[in-house]
Amino acid sequence: MGLLSDRTYGIGGPRHRMVGWLSEDTPFGKFEVLKSILRNGDSILDVGCGTGLLVDWLDNEGYDVDYHGLDLSNKFLSVFAEAHPELLDRLSEGSALSPFNEKYDVTVSFGLTSDLNGVDQAAALIGNMVESARDAAIVEFWDETLFDPIGDGIPPKSWSIDRITSAAKRVCPGCDVNVMRPLNWSDFAVVVFKR
Ligand SMILES: C[S@@+](CC[C@H](N)C(=O)[O-])C[C@H]1O[C@@H](n2cnc3c(N)ncnc32)[C@H](O)[C@@H]1O
Repeated sequence: MGLLSDRTYGIGGPRHRMVGWLSEDTPFGKFEVLKSILRNGDSILDVGCGTGLLVDWLDNEGYDVDYHGLDLSNKFLSVFAEAHPELLDRLSEGSALSPFNEKYDVTVSFGLTSDLNGVDQAAALIGNMVESARDAAIVEFWDETLFDPIGDGIPPKSWSIDRITSAAKRVCPGCDVNVMRPLNWSDFAVVVFKR
């Protein structure tokens, strides 16, 4: 698996710092951003957890965390629970756009934002993630100003880094809003530190 180019980025760092984390051509590359943030023993909420790819990455990396997953789709959650029966009582069905009831050390969302419509929904998601996070909230977006995933020439959504970081600052004016991106990908993660 990849090495981080700089394990110290982000925390306490300048806002909008752009730092590459190594991404090999693997679905796991996007999770590397967590390495400088998540610690053993932390609780983590994985919003839009799907079939549980993040849990495989956490296991591969040797993390021992208190994992919770949330997803709209019962179908994905069933596949997840079949592969990880030990996490059955940690999975819940629910929407990323409704407030979460609990607090977690870190909240994350990978791959969900292509299902959102517009910056207002993105801001609502970031707001919920930040509200439920004690330390940090991480939301991955595709920079659709750089990449047209469908290739249909239709103007992309508004996931430009500027618009998303502005939305994050709006929902949490006192937070430290950072952007991290994997090398050679059009993804970026907005990382909001609460303290
Ligand atoms: C592309 S998958 C990503 C799954 C996983 N996070 C990963 O990185 O492999 C997107 C997931 O987000 C879920 N999702 C989409 N919109 C959602 C919403 N509003 N609330 C909760 N989950 C949502 C989908 O059901 C799907 O499981």
